[in-house]
Amino acid sequence: MTQMNRRSFLATGIAALGTAAAWRAANVRAAAPLPEIAGGPTVPIAALRRLIVERIDPVSGRCRYLADTGGQIIADPIFIARRGDRVDTVIDNRLPQPTSIHFHGLTLPEKQDGAGFDPIAPRSTKALSFEVRNRGGLYWFHAHPQGFTAEQVHAGLAGLLVVSDDEDRALDQALALAPGNRLALAMGDVRVANEVLRPYAPSPDDCVHGWFGNRARVNGALDYSADVAPGWVRLQILNGSNARGMLLAFRDASTLLPFHLLGTDGGLLAAPAALDRVFLYPAERIDVAIDVSGHSAVSAVSIAFDPRHQVRGGTLARLHPERDQFPPLSGSAVCAPFNTGAPGDVVAEGAEFPLFNLRVSGAARAAAPMPQRLSALDAPPPPAEATRRLRLDFDERIGYLIDQTRYRPDEVAFSIARGTREVWEVRNSPLSMPHPMHLHGFGFRVLRRQGTFGPARALATAANGMLPTDLGVKDTVVLWPNETLWLAVDFTLPEDGDFSGRQRYMFHCHNLEHEDGMMMRNFAVS
Ligand code: C2O
Ligand code: CU
Ligand code: CU
Repeated sequence: MTQMNRRSFLATGIAALGTAAAWRAANVRAAAPLPEIAGGPTVPIAALRRLIVERIDPVSGRCRYLADTGGQIIADPIFIARRGDRVDTVIDNRLPQPTSIHFHGLTLPEKQDGAGFDPIAPRSTKALSFEVRNRGGLYWFHAHPQGFTAEQVHAGLAGLLVVSDDEDRALDQALALAPGNRLALAMGDVRVANEVLRPYAPSPDDCVHGWFGNRARVNGALDYSADVAPGWVRLQILNGSNARGMLLAFRDASTLLPFHLLGTDGGLLAAPAALDRVFLYPAERIDVAIDVSGHSAVSAVSIAFDPRHQVRGGTLARLHPERDQFPPLSGSAVCAPFNTGAPGDVVAEGAEFPLFNLRVSGAARAAAPMPQRLSALDAPPPPAEATRRLRLDFDERIGYLIDQTRYRPDEVAFSIARGTREVWEVRNSPLSMPHPMHLHGFGFRVLRRQGTFGPARALATAANGMLPTDLGVKDTVVLWPNETLWLAVDFTLPEDGDFSGRQRYMFHCHNLEHEDGMMMRNFAVS
């Protein structure tokens, strides 16, 4: 810790976001334009008056969010915000199950975090009120009720929040984006038979490995495609799958196209990185620019990779007891032994998987030069000695464990004094599978990877065995089996009444079957 440079730490933590006076200054600048995002209906989050959660089809279990702005009701909105905007709304749970809405990646007080231990009962409401304090970037919101998260997210209860700030606006200008050339995309995979969505009905084996589908669903649609113009296309992409890791690439016919990585979970990198493929595990986001000039069609695909499922045997990670008190969304049981998929239902993780298409048309134009500097983000700090160690394990009889412990909603695994800067050493066991681990409330920096398997190691172009995405602010990182990661976390909270007193947050796996299988812990910052 001691050799760690304070500025680097501050650059990631909420402290970097400034004081209460700075938040207000950001609000005064609220005249700044909202980002122009294509890909779905956008709603300024500051205009939201009610966020309705409803089931629209009891056969497939399909659900949706409705954004009520007081004058209009918009289904499956993409929220847009400026840093400093306020959200004052009501969540209206019309499901037959408990739900919650977690704004993944935002720094929020416990009461606004929508964590699994804070569900909204069926047919009841909860006030939601917070300020968007984080850097510009792609964040997202999703259902998070303990035991029902996987089912509800798969049913469609997940959406995007694009936050803009000065650096974000400067980038759009530098790229001279044509209208329609900036998209926000939530990708996932679903099981489809005869063009109909199959209900969420994981077998015990699916509950161990994750629920994988056979088709991509992007912004709610199968076979998603978007029309873009020649020049730079800026894509902010979420892997919103329950379980599928992706190795994302862009192709014209069989040629892989180069692209630039601009940002990660918590906003823009300091400088763009030129790549031709990037790993994207569930809950991770990337911001990329691709020059589509001279192409008429570009397809996004997860290219083949070794998925590293090294878990052997194992039965069923038991779910939260709460599940038994409420019906499933579709009439299909979850993790039940009689759930056996038909052959062809699933494309295995790591097999090539088509995601979406870009159709390019319009007058030929050359892309503007890519800026060399994107943001004031510091380089990741050098590796430092761990101040906290966490171990990820699999027990055939119990399921996935963090420090040999299953989740208990009332447990606080550890407490951290606010303002503390820690280095977490997180280690995944060899007989395991990849776990995309997520920390609520705090963006962090990756310091080092060790034990990475060969093909991923080959893509680790940054110092200390790190992948290009490790250079940004992260809130979710994948650990492959046998891998150890060192993460720098600044547990500074805003000095503002909403954050006073003890605040509980979660650290958990974002493979949603593992999450519902209790691979989670609570911790507190006080
Ligand atoms: Cu995106 Cu605790 O989750
Ligand atoms: Cu989160
Ligand atoms: Cu996991």
